[in-house]
Amino acid sequence: MKEEVKTQIPAQETAVKNNAAEEWDTSVAARLARGEHVALIEVEHLTKKFGELTVLDDITDKVEQGEKVAIIGPSGSGKSTFLRCLNVLEDPTGGAVYFEGANLVDRKVDINLHRRRMGMVFQQFNLFNNMNVLKNITLAPVHIGLHDLHKTKAKNFFRKIANLFRSKAKKRALLSVQTSAKQIREAAKENAMRLLTRIGLADKASVYPSTLSGGQRQRIAIVRALAMNPKVMLFDEPTSALDPEMVGEVLELIKELADEGMTMVIVTHEMGFAREVATRVLFMDGGKIQEQGTPQQIFGDPQNERLKDFLSKVL
Ligand SMILES: Nc1ncnc2c1ncn2[C@@H]1O[C@H](COP(=O)(O)OP(=O)(O)OP(=O)(O)O)[C@@H](O)[C@H]1O
Ligand SMILES: [Mg+2]
Repeated sequence: MKEEVKTQIPAQETAVKNNAAEEWDTSVAARLARGEHVALIEVEHLTKKFGELTVLDDITDKVEQGEKVAIIGPSGSGKSTFLRCLNVLEDPTGGAVYFEGANLVDRKVDINLHRRRMGMVFQQFNLFNNMNVLKNITLAPVHIGLHDLHKTKAKNFFRKIANLFRSKAKKRALLSVQTSAKQIREAAKENAMRLLTRIGLADKASVYPSTLSGGQRQRIAIVRALAMNPKVMLFDEPTSALDPEMVGEVLELIKELADEGMTMVIVTHEMGFAREVATRVLFMDGGKIQEQGTPQQIFGDPQNERLKDFLSKVL
């Protein structure tokens, strides 16, 4: 009897301790398990190595819905790599990247499904030169729309067959198919024309990208990403390949999106833009976020010596 009591007490103590530890566990997985708030994007202990070179060194940070995060820092500090890890265009070496609560690094997660919801715009416009502007914008939405449609139809096909062998009470209802391939194509085209009209380029729908200016191409690259109805836009130096007179029109469009509430992460060398549009600025150096804060803090009252040095060169 005594023996039993002795073994029970430590067991209870451990349980209490475990509970306390669980409550204190602020990892994304623990918060998800407790049904607590998780930001739109959260990275945990994110590490990226290229061979021996550590480019991202144990970064933990999050992006809340509606935030406009500007990333600044010297060349080679890991800004692009960080951005590319957010949508797993680059495979992290370690750590986790949660987007809408799903860990994109987890092999079991259907990454394409989540990546659709993250628009990405690069320095080089990356439009398909062998397709006209309209096709560039409608390509992905049509592809995905048709893919989903075929998947639903295939599921219904197998359900119909399975239902043949089921009793009346056990037959499963078919999934509703609300659109046809034609409707998907038309809706994508309509949406693309609406977006082109918005940026004043509706008359360019049928031309090829090579006939456009850099500023026009970059604005089209932006609306192409918007056509997927993203939850967040990731920009990697969207204006640094542009002639100076075209920078303004692209920044203006990004600013409009920001004002409309789009969540965005933007790597930029345009300090004036970061100061004006960002709700938070991250300064990266040596694969780490060395300092972060509001634009007022970062530009007006920098603390980190490397940040001070960086700003003295770029401002
Ligand atoms: N695919 C790769 N293979 C090997 N090394 C790479 C690769 N991509 C990036 N790197 C290295 O990682 C480091 C960070 O690169 P990254 O492009 O993220 O820097 P950055 O801050 O975006 O610089 P920049 O301001 O010049 O664009 C650099 O030293 C770069 O050479
Ligand atoms: Mg870069």
